[in-house]
Amino acid sequence: MSPFQLTRTLPEDATDAALRADVLYGLTRTPKTLPPKWFYDARGSELFEEITELPEYYPTRAEREILLTRSAEIAEATAARTLVELGSGSSDKTRHLLDELPDLHTYVPVDVSESALKQAGQALLAERPELNVHAMIADFTRGLTLPDTPGPRLVAFLGGTIGNLLPAERAEFLASVRSLLAPGDALLLGTDLVKDESVLVAAYDDAAGVTAAFNKNVLAVVNRELGADFDPAAFAHVALWDRDKEWIEMRLRALQPLSVKVPALDLAVDFEQDEELRTEISAKFRKDGVRAELAAARLELTHWWTDTAGRFALSLSMAR
Ligand code: SAH
Ligand code: TRP
Repeated sequence: MSPFQLTRTLPEDATDAALRADVLYGLTRTPKTLPPKWFYDARGSELFEEITELPEYYPTRAEREILLTRSAEIAEATAARTLVELGSGSSDKTRHLLDELPDLHTYVPVDVSESALKQAGQALLAERPELNVHAMIADFTRGLTLPDTPGPRLVAFLGGTIGNLLPAERAEFLASVRSLLAPGDALLLGTDLVKDESVLVAAYDDAAGVTAAFNKNVLAVVNRELGADFDPAAFAHVALWDRDKEWIEMRLRALQPLSVKVPALDLAVDFEQDEELRTEISAKFRKDGVRAELAAARLELTHWWTDTAGRFALSLSMAR
């Protein structure tokens, strides 16, 4: 087998059909919404990489610290021969784990962003020519199937991306991940933790405005793909902490009354001044909650590691 394979489980036009359905549904309900996976076209993936380097955005550095110090323990606890990574993006932090897995046979990065997968695959292959990389363009929320590679399997879901799913979506997602695992396989999960509101809000509303540009990129995607005429400058980026639900909510607020046309859907959408379009949540977690959500999916939490500042956690759980 060639050391780099790219599989597309989404038909070329599935993205188009799913985007149309999501935009039609989201822009015609109250409050208006757009789902987060559409942030990540090539530009969106690039902007996310910039976010990971911002002084205010601590999760990437905190999770990297944990991976650097704990990867040997993760390797020992899992003996993984296949590492599957969901929402792998640049696979940058994953290198620390790859470096410590002596028996690894195949790495399976899964992402909706084809550009991110190709770049990550090229970079990995240049460094580790002996590694089999089976990249998959796929939506991890839609009935994922995995290539037939040797176990034990370790599924990694890093970056706190699980927090971008609503609680009911998380339950469904964890159950579907569990269905990919055999007894003895494991899940490595990155979760950002509840902390001071000012620290959280700054991480999603940085001084340089990169997160604002990332949030508005979803409008550029709808413009390009569906011929819409959103003016990104007519919206303000908003990041709010919901202290009851314990999540950050990202919104785009119309700065004036607007009428937006979406020709591909034969749709005109009106915004009142100050009306907000909800784009993404980023839930923050506590250990007991993570343990309970995993247990509900028949995954047993066996390890819980945080960075030294206690901002972010990596947990390891086992399929029994
Ligand atoms: N794991 C990386 C990237 C996190 S950003 C890190 O920790 O830095 C979230 C990643 O998930 C992006 O690369 C995005 O393209 C991908 N993604 C978001 N929704 C997805 C979905 N439904 N299916 C597959 N990938 C998705
Ligand atoms: N998984 C990342 C997080 O929740 C994604 C992210 C970071 C994000 N910054 C964002 C999503 C800004 C939308 C807007 O931290």
